[in-house]
Amino acid sequence: MAASPRPRAVVTGASSGIGADIARELASRGFDLVLAARRQDRLLALADEIRNATRPDPVEVECVAVDLSVPDGPATLWERATARGGKVHALVNNAGFGAHTVFERTEWAKYDELLRLNVRALTELTWLAVRHMRGHGERAYVLQVASIGGHQPTAWFAVYAATKSYVCDFSAALGFELQGTNVSVTCLSPGATVTEFSDVAQVQLGFVGKLAMMASRPVARVGVRGMLAGRREVVPGFVNKLAVLLAKFLPRWLVVRSAARLMGRPS
Ligand SMILES: NC(=O)c1ccc[n+]([C@@H]2O[C@H](COP(=O)([O-])OP(=O)(O)OC[C@H]3O[C@@H](n4cnc5c(N)ncnc54)[C@H](OP(=O)(O)O)[C@@H]3O)[C@@H](O)[C@H]2O)c1
Repeated sequence: MAASPRPRAVVTGASSGIGADIARELASRGFDLVLAARRQDRLLALADEIRNATRPDPVEVECVAVDLSVPDGPATLWERATARGGKVHALVNNAGFGAHTVFERTEWAKYDELLRLNVRALTELTWLAVRHMRGHGERAYVLQVASIGGHQPTAWFAVYAATKSYVCDFSAALGFELQGTNVSVTCLSPGATVTEFSDVAQVQLGFVGKLAMMASRPVARVGVRGMLAGRREVVPGFVNKLAVLLAKFLPRWLVVRSAARLMGRPS
């Protein structure tokens, strides 16, 4: 069988929310896809939807059911994505979750999983992808899904926000290292977005949070456009842009206090 002439993207956390919409956006721009998450039924349903939506010349979609928080998860996904000499032209590190918690009242296992998924898996996949992409030499992209929480320390989301701060800093530095090469690194920082995130994180947003909420499709569209333009940082939505700007210029104590007020203490 002849190799597909299309570029190919790996999207993690594609079974729901922003990841599923990033997959739809990439398919509409002619990318073949490797979709990864734990819930295989969701991935298979999305793969069918995308093949139907891209007829008469459907993009190729492969599904990999994998838990990226376990030690061999990222390597397993990468082996599947590059099997039989398959080339990857975009990695979207989107899988992640939050936990709205009182730090000392929460089991260590929760934070361990959060750090392994949001930080370790993202870093290992980026390492695997950049080596692979520098090796094949064709135009290639890494899109990291961070959060506006990565720009502001957030009480009761302390560990989650710090993982996203890592994603922002790591991506900015790596993007600089890779400038002038065939690989660009883009960091997408969404604010509150309508997905399964708040159910998983067990957070109830207040009035202001709900007012600023975006649908996941425009967030995905802005992220993919920024990635394809090789932009280093993308923040979707006016309110989110303003939040990131204020966090840069306001005194740190005020940023910490405002973020805490906005998210509220868990009951
Ligand atoms: N929604 C927001 O308000 C918001 C705001 C800022 C940033 N973000 C970030 O956006 C990204 C996407 O989140 P979302 O809002 O779309 O939430 P979501 O609807 O809960 O999607 C999270 C995705 O991550 C996958 N995932 C979770 N744990 C995994 C694991 N151990 N291994 C593999 N995949 C795993 C989930 O799939 P399975 O459960 O099937 O594994 C799902 O596809 C996250 O990084 C999140 O931190 C979200």
